[in-house]
Amino acid sequence: KQNIVFDCDPGSDDSIAILETFAHPEALQVLGMTTVGGNGILANVTKNLQHLLWFLKQEVPIAPGQATPIIKNLQNATDIHGENGLAGPTFPAEADKYPLASNNGVTFLHQIISQSSTPITIVATAPLTNIALLLKVFPEDRENIQQIVIMGGSLSKGNVTPQAEFNFFVDPDAADIVLTSGLPIVLCGLDVTNNTGLSSEQIKTLEHRGPASQLAYEILTPYFQAEKGEGLKRAAIHDLATITYLLDPTIYQGEHYQLHVNSSWGELRGQVEINSTTEGSANVLVLKKVDIERASQLLLDSLALLDQK
Ligand code: BDR
Ligand code: CA
Repeated sequence: KQNIVFDCDPGSDDSIAILETFAHPEALQVLGMTTVGGNGILANVTKNLQHLLWFLKQEVPIAPGQATPIIKNLQNATDIHGENGLAGPTFPAEADKYPLASNNGVTFLHQIISQSSTPITIVATAPLTNIALLLKVFPEDRENIQQIVIMGGSLSKGNVTPQAEFNFFVDPDAADIVLTSGLPIVLCGLDVTNNTGLSSEQIKTLEHRGPASQLAYEILTPYFQAEKGEGLKRAAIHDLATITYLLDPTIYQGEHYQLHVNSSWGELRGQVEINSTTEGSANVLVLKKVDIERASQLLLDSLALLDQK
């Protein structure tokens, strides 16, 4: 069983990743979750996380982290995820009451990691602002971090600019701090996440199948419509790749690199770049291939498990 902390900005695809996570308590123990400004403003993505955890009947401690990137201004993705960061479902007022354990996500993560008796896996599906600050402010926590599994970046092409993926584009300074930290990292970039998801036929099968499947249906239907505008043939549930990888790494194949992120203000901002030096370790496992069928089946099975709870 892996102990994880999960930093996110839900977010349609973050939400599906969260559903898959809580379908597998036998494999993933979630010690805490944090939010960060990204797909929507911090207040909205935090509210969305509260709603999801209320729906899932969880009692996981959560805390909002940084509202804006370390240096650059925040750019949202409300065109894809909706004005409130999670288009589609509605939740009762009671769901707003899901408690916040702290108002400072970075120190909250530090407390969990420093107090854990076993090393922690960090899952990060949003701009890396909180994680970069954690590594800078509490460098001693490095010793208790087993790995950081990130959705972000791309070695092929971007989705905000020709080169840059959204999470790395929004806070390239944070992405650079994390990738160059030397810690063991698994990078689920667009190279695989564009193929981690469901077809419109698969999404349709979720309707009325059960409460969790229905929620996924309500989230994925507008999300797929928005993504289709970007020319994608299936709903690319990017953030899901992190959890799918943790649940079954054999679904993916990757290669190790030493990387940094272009944090200039120029047109290459947010681009992942391979270090030409051979000094230091190739600490980043970049996932390059995914077995689409197995990844989508794992999600469908996970939702069915949740439906029965
Ligand atoms: C990433 O950007 C966000 O919009 C998604 O939630 C995902 O984390 C994909 O580029
Ligand atoms: Ca996200």
